[in-house]
Amino acid sequence: MVRENLVIMDSVTTKFAKRNLVQISKPLASFLLLLFVGCLVATGLLVYNFSSCSEAKKFEEKPTCDRVPQEVPSTTEEAEPLTEVITTTTSPVASTSAKSAEDSDLDVRLPRAVLPQSYKLKLVPFLQEGNFTFNGEVEILVNVTQATNNITLHSDDLFIDTVSVTDSNRDTVSIRDVRGVKKKQFLIIDLDEDVHAGGQYYVFIKFKGVLNDLLQGFYRSSYEENNVTRWMAATQFQATDARKSFPCFDEPGLKARFQISIARLKNMTSISNMRRVNSTEAEPELPDYVWDHFEESVPMSTYLVAYVVSDFESISDGSFSIWARRSALGQASYSLEIGPKILKYYEEFFGIEYPLPKLDMVAIPDFSAGAMENWGLITYREPVLLYEKGVSSRSSLQRIAHVVAHELAHQWFGNLVTPTWWTDLWLNEGFATYVEFLGAYAVAPKWKDPDLFLVSELHGAFGLDALKSSHPISIEVNNPDEVNDIFDRISYSKGASIIRMMQFFMTAEVFHKGLNKYLKSSMYSNAEQDDLWRTLTEVSHENGVLEPDITIKEIMDTWTLQTGYPLITARKAPQNNSVILRQERFYLHRDHVENTTTWWVPITYIDKYNNQKKAWMRKESEKVMEVEPLQRGDWFLLNVNQTGYYRVNYEVENWLALIEQLRNSHLVFDPKNRAQLLDDSLNLAFSGYISYDVALNATLYLVNEREYIPWNSGLDNLDYLYDMFVRTAHFDKYKTYILHLIRDYYAELGFKDSTDDDPLVVLSRMEIVGKACLLGLRDCIMQAVQHFQNWKNAANPDRNNDISPDLREIVYCTAISDGGQEEWEFAWQRYLNTNVANEKEILLTALGCSKETWILSRYLEWALTENSGIRKHDSARVFATVSTNSIGQDLAYRFLKTNWNRIRSYLGPSSMSLVSIVKTSTAHFNTEEEVNDFKYFLKRKQSEFGIALRTAQQSIEQAEANVKWMNTYFKTIVQWLETVPR
Ligand SMILES: *[C@@H]1O[C@H](CO)[C@@H](O)[C@H](O)[C@H]1NC(C)=O
Ligand SMILES: *[C@@H]1O[C@H](CO)[C@@H](O)[C@H](O)[C@H]1NC(C)=O
Ligand SMILES: *[C@@H]1O[C@H](CO)[C@@H](O)[C@H](O)[C@H]1NC(C)=O
Repeated sequence: MVRENLVIMDSVTTKFAKRNLVQISKPLASFLLLLFVGCLVATGLLVYNFSSCSEAKKFEEKPTCDRVPQEVPSTTEEAEPLTEVITTTTSPVASTSAKSAEDSDLDVRLPRAVLPQSYKLKLVPFLQEGNFTFNGEVEILVNVTQATNNITLHSDDLFIDTVSVTDSNRDTVSIRDVRGVKKKQFLIIDLDEDVHAGGQYYVFIKFKGVLNDLLQGFYRSSYEENNVTRWMAATQFQATDARKSFPCFDEPGLKARFQISIARLKNMTSISNMRRVNSTEAEPELPDYVWDHFEESVPMSTYLVAYVVSDFESISDGSFSIWARRSALGQASYSLEIGPKILKYYEEFFGIEYPLPKLDMVAIPDFSAGAMENWGLITYREPVLLYEKGVSSRSSLQRIAHVVAHELAHQWFGNLVTPTWWTDLWLNEGFATYVEFLGAYAVAPKWKDPDLFLVSELHGAFGLDALKSSHPISIEVNNPDEVNDIFDRISYSKGASIIRMMQFFMTAEVFHKGLNKYLKSSMYSNAEQDDLWRTLTEVSHENGVLEPDITIKEIMDTWTLQTGYPLITARKAPQNNSVILRQERFYLHRDHVENTTTWWVPITYIDKYNNQKKAWMRKESEKVMEVEPLQRGDWFLLNVNQTGYYRVNYEVENWLALIEQLRNSHLVFDPKNRAQLLDDSLNLAFSGYISYDVALNATLYLVNEREYIPWNSGLDNLDYLYDMFVRTAHFDKYKTYILHLIRDYYAELGFKDSTDDDPLVVLSRMEIVGKACLLGLRDCIMQAVQHFQNWKNAANPDRNNDISPDLREIVYCTAISDGGQEEWEFAWQRYLNTNVANEKEILLTALGCSKETWILSRYLEWALTENSGIRKHDSARVFATVSTNSIGQDLAYRFLKTNWNRIRSYLGPSSMSLVSIVKTSTAHFNTEEEVNDFKYFLKRKQSEFGIALRTAQQSIEQAEANVKWMNTYFKTIVQWLETVPR
């Protein structure tokens, strides 16, 4: 799964977590907030848009919950009788929303006495206004492994009609009771007598459910075509929502075959994981319906089951198809161009053919995550699958390539071989994230993806993993909330970073061999990280890349079971022929320092004369490494190309030598090392390991820098200063310095882009020009405003937009920021009218750039208003863009406080959007008053924060750190800024 909401949060977050893939600097993010969103691995936990089902997505619609069946009404551990309860206008979901704290350690794993072998699933979704429900039947063939008097499986928000159990001769097994255990989302079938070990039985269940508008389970989505609202049904099951669509053994380790049939209206189509075999007339009660029958699947986990019923159309290349709403189908050709190529690349890379007979990819208008890797039927948000030439920016090509490559990688890593339990989720997501860079690189090498990994994944993981509140990659999880909580940057970015590190110390070739062996040995089955370590150890020993007495497990356990990462401090020994290395855990705030954790660290070393060295720190806290003697003033550098997941600190003398080299001739270093030097030094200064004078002196060389990766790293770090300075009396000094750094490069890049530009030049231009406009460079603002005015004066602006797609974020934001109501209304109309999802995102973000307080207030209002034109799952984006605007920060926070209850009821108390909003509207606090005010608010409302509570506490931790930072460093930095060139 690729997640959305983390990216939204990161876009305004100052220090602790950075955006993924192709990072965009933070203030620039006010222009580019959503540009690469999604690229990434980041993103959106299920957006729990808790609305009652009467608040339907599309606007003209009436309440729709009349006569909706209610779920099995069990709310306690105790058995409750199964009774049919039909209520009006009560969302069945409401009862799941508030989970009390003591539930968290509830054992929610299914007993292993009964295992599913295969499912026959039949579903009839109704997509009529006033009746968004579905009927279903499932017949599950189960194996009994030990005698038991109950069959326990999952079911949530479903109304159970009938249940029966038969043995393999189809003789009835009598049922004593059927009950739901709401807290565990269990459906327990108590039998009158034991079913016996070794026997096979059929469990047959008839049920009903609601096609909800919460974007989870089996849900409904809608869009307009020719002014008509069209409805569709789709699924999103990961991690624990298959049970909302049919009763099932909903754990990743319980693989089974699925034979699915869907009834759909004659003028619609249905697609599922497997190919359609045939269609048959539906029964007389369903006159306008047809049954589509799909082939039986290979053994797979429930969370990968998927079906979509729509009137979409598709384009295909052989058995590879892309589906979209009719009027957007023209935007699907890029995905169809790269999809089959990436698939082919992976077949070779993994050494295993794609296991299914076909692959569909679908763009769904309402979608909580960025994308979801359902086997054979991958679902996407529109902007990460659809590309309109001449409208979408070139960077969206990269974003699409990454998301597609990520989901395709899962077809092997995750789908074919699946973690036994969510604890090893990182194996899925870390690998998909790592491999996504290879897949994207294979089809678009000019983007230099393997290098971009540094700024998009590694540095992002460093940010979060330096907090005391970080967690180990491999983490025990039990209930659904805990499971959903770990789809975070640690699983994705840190996971990918340590895999990359492993690839370097094992060599790519051996790593690749081990990977193939691992996949082949666990195909159609499940595995744990120790299985992977075992295979990689064998292969490493066979190929002599690891000493016989060392295992991969020994090394990797230090990275996956421990929190955080090491800071290696290197100093020259007095004799000058060795370097003394020390390791300790790196903390962003040094008051948390504890020095007991150590890692297996692959040390790489290079010096000014290109002497290179490698060594292991074997969990030692100190180690001496022999090196060639160096002269005074000669530099050396550790963690070459930042292949290791650790930071490095040096004595001041070596820092000065490195900076001297950067300033005299930075090209001596690889761009990755330049990015590393900036990121390490500025973070070390933040944490007080080195002085800001040293770190800021390192940034001076940027005047001569012309590569994207170091610029991205440098500006991303300097953005923290922007946040701290922007509301102070000394902002001019910051502004002057950054403009000094970028002025020459801005003049070179300018507004004139060409289709021949190297992709990284395109990214640099967005970074540099965006910064120039944000910081008020006159030429930049004039050009942006001119471009926008030309568009505004165009005859039919929805058709005729001459602004280069790559510059639109900047042009729109700058013109709206510089303009007034007229410019805003113009952009709003374009937002409503455009058929291109990327363009909608860009406009949605740019609309938050206004400097008019009332316009921003109205915008926030609309974000919480049904029928306003802003989809509910975009509310959080509106808050994020307003919060990123220096004029909007306080406004968004005050709006949050004033409208607390309204926000909660509109989005639902368990909405991930609420989490984003809390985070983004408090991200810029750096005064005591702000912190205290928020603390007071939190204290009064604590019980209402729900799943946003942890985020709120983190916000306070961050805000307090900001206050401390202001007290400690602000003056020093002002002084430094006063002495530098302008
Ligand atoms: C929805 O429509 C179907 C088919 O017309 C009907 O069988 C079902 O009872 C309806 N459900 C509700 C809740 O109205
Ligand atoms: C169930 O039992 C059958 C027959 O003994 C066996 O082939 C199959 O692998 C078993 N399936 C599971 C999931 O245990
Ligand atoms: C169901 O059976 C399993 C296996 O025999 C047992 O562990 C579990 O406690 C039973 N559950 C209930 C609710 O009786």
